[in-house]
Amino acid sequence: MARGIRNDEAMLAFLLLQIVSFCGSWPLSTNSRWIVDDASGKRVKLACVNWPSHLEPMIAEGLEKKPINVIVKKISETGFNCVRFTWSTYMFTRPDYGNLTVSKSLERFNLSAAKAGIAKNNPRFLNMSVVQLHKAVVDELGKNKVMVVLDNHVSRPTWCCSGDGNGFFGDADFSPEEWLRGLAAVAKAYKAHPAVVGMSMRNELRGSRQNEADWYKYMQQGANTIHAQSPDFLVIVSGLNFDNNLGFLKSKPLAVNVRNKLVYEAHWYSFGIPAEKWAAQTNQLCATVTKWARDNYLFLIAGNNSFPLFLSEFGINQRGDDLADNRYISCLLAAVAEADLDWALWALQGSYILREGHVNLEEIYGVLDINWDHPRNPAFLDKLQVVRQINQDFKSKHPTYYILFHPLSGQCVHVVKNDIVVATCKNASRWDHHQDGGPIRLAGSPWCLGVAGDGTTPRVSKDCSSKWKLVSSTGLHLAAQDGRGKHLCLEKNASDSKLVTKKCLCVGDNLADLPTCAQNPEAQWFKLIPANI
Ligand SMILES: *[C@@H]1O[C@H](CO)[C@@H](O)[C@H](O)[C@H]1NC(C)=O
Ligand SMILES: *[C@@H]1O[C@H](CO)[C@@H](O)[C@H](O)[C@H]1NC(C)=O
Ligand SMILES: *[C@@H]1O[C@H](CO)[C@@H](O)[C@H](O)[C@H]1NC(C)=O
Ligand SMILES: *[C@@H]1O[C@H](CO)[C@@H](O)[C@H](O)[C@H]1NC(C)=O
Ligand SMILES: *[C@@H]1O[C@H](CO)[C@@H](O)[C@H](O)[C@H]1NC(C)=O
Ligand SMILES: *[C@@H]1O[C@H](CO)[C@@H](O)[C@H](O)[C@H]1NC(C)=O
Repeated sequence: MARGIRNDEAMLAFLLLQIVSFCGSWPLSTNSRWIVDDASGKRVKLACVNWPSHLEPMIAEGLEKKPINVIVKKISETGFNCVRFTWSTYMFTRPDYGNLTVSKSLERFNLSAAKAGIAKNNPRFLNMSVVQLHKAVVDELGKNKVMVVLDNHVSRPTWCCSGDGNGFFGDADFSPEEWLRGLAAVAKAYKAHPAVVGMSMRNELRGSRQNEADWYKYMQQGANTIHAQSPDFLVIVSGLNFDNNLGFLKSKPLAVNVRNKLVYEAHWYSFGIPAEKWAAQTNQLCATVTKWARDNYLFLIAGNNSFPLFLSEFGINQRGDDLADNRYISCLLAAVAEADLDWALWALQGSYILREGHVNLEEIYGVLDINWDHPRNPAFLDKLQVVRQINQDFKSKHPTYYILFHPLSGQCVHVVKNDIVVATCKNASRWDHHQDGGPIRLAGSPWCLGVAGDGTTPRVSKDCSSKWKLVSSTGLHLAAQDGRGKHLCLEKNASDSKLVTKKCLCVGDNLADLPTCAQNPEAQWFKLIPANI
């Protein structure tokens, strides 16, 4: 018995060690374009949600609505393993900001309802300073094994972005020296914190002062400052023009000495393209914005000198009624799934305590509803499965198979008995596809995907004569010829989960885009996602 007990104890100790090593201080590093866990050597994928704590009150949004443990549970339950948690420089450089208690900070803006809400939901936070509160939130995330990226969002606590003095080095509120002190203070405060995996150096540089020379100078200083203080952290470098542009790195790399810790970040929204244009030219716009993303930042993950790219903001109006957002997100998901990027959705919060002078302002891009009770749009969260999962890692340079992703449904193609359907991407069917215009074959089998006819289910059989081409400027339509030589496109049947082949939408007989098109081609968008896991 004694021996048995010892064994149990040993087993328990072993299990505890396992748990600790899983949730514990996992320094992350980079291996070419991948983020990896130092301890296991395995790829870690950041599937984060943004959670602001940088607005005027300097208080993580939502603490006035729900207890912290409830919010953190919701983060995990809605499918995120990580939070991009924001802070403003002054919180960590100016005692008259950072040492304000939560109560005082709210009283300054007469936010009595929020104060009452925190007293009710999180009473222990009222007497903390806003800096202590920031740490308490990170601690709670860590306890729940949620990784944290700390994002320096602004200098003066406020909503960003235009004409706010927070845009670029030298702006009214953006002293480079104070910014560096802030980075050092945060890197020091969170050094060796088990939850924190990295620091995002500055959100959305912008405005009339922005220029490449200063970018290189200050990014170098910022990276070295973080690394000197906390050498385990990933150092995450953002671009110019609202974090939309890192294209200049093609001609001049950033010279920093942070070993294998350097990660770049970028943002991708639908802003600036009117819905009418999306409605009339969905294929062309998707091709244009995907090329734009490639030229501005996706290029960083390719080639011999590649880096991880963290898509640290993207998102949609989650009420679902914004046509531009709805088309953009399918297009984005195809590109992000193919690239297997690390990412952070904008955003968690269903509401803000105070934003741009509005009290309790709703965030329609928020995962949670205005009361922080329920996910606003569970179907949208389901669509993120393909980008949540790891499809590729660094062990092989080449895909060993593909999964066939349908961005509109957020699902992937499965062959189930005699049916060909879309369902969860977790266990999608695996395909071989060696060249554009070649067969699409179930991996390791003699069975190929074939056109049967207009409006009918494609067949999966030993007939491998269907040659599938990636057509339209997006390359997202998969077309092959029927018996009479007419090209038909793969499509998800609107009212069930089955696939059919039909006349290609918004694509002419020459397989190029129609100049304009009133139909929505998204039902026919598919992406072969390379995988090797
Ligand atoms: C807040 O006050 C403490 C001493 O009470 C000081 O050590 C700390 O630096 C102050 N915080 C800031 C942000 O200045
Ligand atoms: C808060 O309320 C007081 C008293 O009504 C008023 O004098 C003050 O201007 C208010 N402050 C803000 C920031 O609204
Ligand atoms: C906060 O501090 C005040 C004054 O020191 C005290 O009266 C109050 O009980 C404290 N509240 C909490 C929740 O600790
Ligand atoms: C990448 O490295 C390989 C092997 O060293 C070399 O053959 C190839 O030309 C390089 N590619 C580029 C784009 O530099
Ligand atoms: C895929 O997973 C779903 C549930 O997640 C399950 O219902 C289904 O049977 C699985 N399919 C295959 C082919 O394993
Ligand atoms: C597509 O769905 C409709 C409505 O459910 C159904 O009538 C039709 O048979 C389906 N088409 C195929 C090819 O399964």
